[in-house]
Amino acid sequence: MYRTHHCNELRSSNVGQEVTLAGWIDSTRDHGGVIFVDLRDREGRTQIVFRPEEYPRVAATAHTLRNEDVTQITGKVARRVDGTQNPKLATGEIEVVASSLNILNRSEILPFPLDSEVGNEDLRLAYRYLDLRRPALVRNLKARHQVVKVTREYLDRNGYLEIETPVLSKSTPEGAREFLVPSRLIPHHYYALSQSPQQYKQLLMVGGVERYFQIAKCFRDEDPRADRITELTQIDLEASFIEREDIVQLIEGLLLEIFRATRGVDIQTPFPRLTYHQAMDRFGIDKPDLRFGMELVDLSDLFAGSQFKVFRGALDNGGVVKCINAKGFAKITTGQIEELTNLAKASDAKGLAFIKVEAGEWKSPIVKFFVEAEKAALKQKLDVEEGDLLLFGADRWEIVCTVLGRIRLKVAEIQQLIKDPNELKFLWVFDFPLLAFDPAENKWSSIHHPFTRPKREDLQLLQDGDYGQVRAEAYDVVLNGVEIGGGSIRIHEQHLQAKMFQVLGINAEQQQKLFGHLLKAFTFGAPPHGGIALGVDRLVMLITRTTNIRDVIAFPKNSRGFDLLMDSPSEVPEEKLRELHIQNHKR
Ligand code: AMO
Ligand code: AMP
Repeated sequence: MYRTHHCNELRSSNVGQEVTLAGWIDSTRDHGGVIFVDLRDREGRTQIVFRPEEYPRVAATAHTLRNEDVTQITGKVARRVDGTQNPKLATGEIEVVASSLNILNRSEILPFPLDSEVGNEDLRLAYRYLDLRRPALVRNLKARHQVVKVTREYLDRNGYLEIETPVLSKSTPEGAREFLVPSRLIPHHYYALSQSPQQYKQLLMVGGVERYFQIAKCFRDEDPRADRITELTQIDLEASFIEREDIVQLIEGLLLEIFRATRGVDIQTPFPRLTYHQAMDRFGIDKPDLRFGMELVDLSDLFAGSQFKVFRGALDNGGVVKCINAKGFAKITTGQIEELTNLAKASDAKGLAFIKVEAGEWKSPIVKFFVEAEKAALKQKLDVEEGDLLLFGADRWEIVCTVLGRIRLKVAEIQQLIKDPNELKFLWVFDFPLLAFDPAENKWSSIHHPFTRPKREDLQLLQDGDYGQVRAEAYDVVLNGVEIGGGSIRIHEQHLQAKMFQVLGINAEQQQKLFGHLLKAFTFGAPPHGGIALGVDRLVMLITRTTNIRDVIAFPKNSRGFDLLMDSPSEVPEEKLRELHIQNHKR
């Protein structure tokens, strides 16, 4: 046997035992002949002592050890001398007095140290196999494993079958841009890498499977961003004969078990719920972070008679005036005001009016336009106190909400309003709009995807062509301001699905070409069904309190979508392209 214990296992109860450990040299210290080594494996570290007076040959070899050499060490567990225990280390009460040392493989000096933060992420990614030796990354991968394990057990218990669906799928306008794969056997024809198993899982429902799930790889050729990657993993599921509440309960139960297993806490269920309209109105975003308040307050009534031209203009055009109170932020610098104003303008605001409450005075270029009654009402409505900063938006409802929503998040970041790093604030967001108008393309597009069911109460609006008012039978689950999952009850009737495609500007011929399989399937007794997908990467990020989504993935692409470890994407020989009937247009 290579080892009797792992490096995070020995305690004072093992004192006196002869043990064998194997792992990497994490550090070495020479204390005048006596050599101390920290031996590390996946589980942790154990201190090894080499005593020249007891084992001179072994100690002599130990002198040649360098960091990251792989070794096998046998020796006796001893209690550490009083005062030298390390309470920060689980094995900190003991050490192993080495009687034999077997060097299994030597290591060159690493391109970066493993025991400190490395600023250069590209370097870490190029040597990911070294980066993975860091305890923080091991911890993330373990959490990921736990999430998937708990999910499989939980969904199995609930009657869900794990079923694989094709990765090589069909190119359809479902949402994200796709990765295309040329077919060698059928010239000039392409597969698309599955951006989600959406259509397959619905077809499984038509197939009578009733309850499906999959730990699904999804591919989306979008520009990577903070919590957006091109190759993501979903806990994807679908069920027949269910309603929204079934999915909500199922997912709350799943998250409860996931957080119990990974964080050792019982999260509070049921989660609070907001409609999309409420979320936008109160927090200015469809995935509100509920770890702090600073809600958007509507002041349209209060300023109904305002003489301030900015407010007057917005209200006369059917818009709104809203405000957030950044408590204790009156000491904001001119630079910060400018930063916030630029942020507001980048979100289509015309400006960002503000009032600082300092030394009992309301300091602002706009306060002269307010009458006493307005000031008094404002003070009462926003609980204005000494040291506060009021920030105003006046425009169309959508613009004001979005702008103040972003300002709210920025202020929270600057003021560091999130005090407890362990806080978990879940919520559901329901009743999203079904469709959004894209002025650039001059057409309607789905907010979620084209298979989402319109709410029954709003079907008439769809028939009447009042598309912007139609709400979807869709739901998102949000944690700490991050959308961790989304899904919907689906359309299962052929005529309604065809109507949906038509609204999206896909004519009958295109419908047959792109979605004929689904439309046909719906004519053979498709059951009512719905489902959801949770983003595993985002979930693990939140569980492990990691700010970089790539740190929860073993082999991620960098922020430009490049695999630095393997150097991919790469050029390929002309020969290979010819086989795929592709001409290289590079030159
Ligand atoms: P959606 O596109 O909302 O829905 O994805 C579901 C969840 O997957 C995660 N996610 C991502 N995580 C990281 N990077 C990305 N680029 C990324 N895109 C999505 C999010 C998101 O909430 N087929 C539907 C689900 C359904 O309707 O059942 C779908 O894929 O956490
Ligand atoms: P102005 O008179 O245009 O210089 O605007 C006076 C103040 O109102 C400035 O602080 C602007 O940033 C702010 N402001 C202008 N338009 C808006 C708007 N639509 N919403 C909120 N504040 C605005």
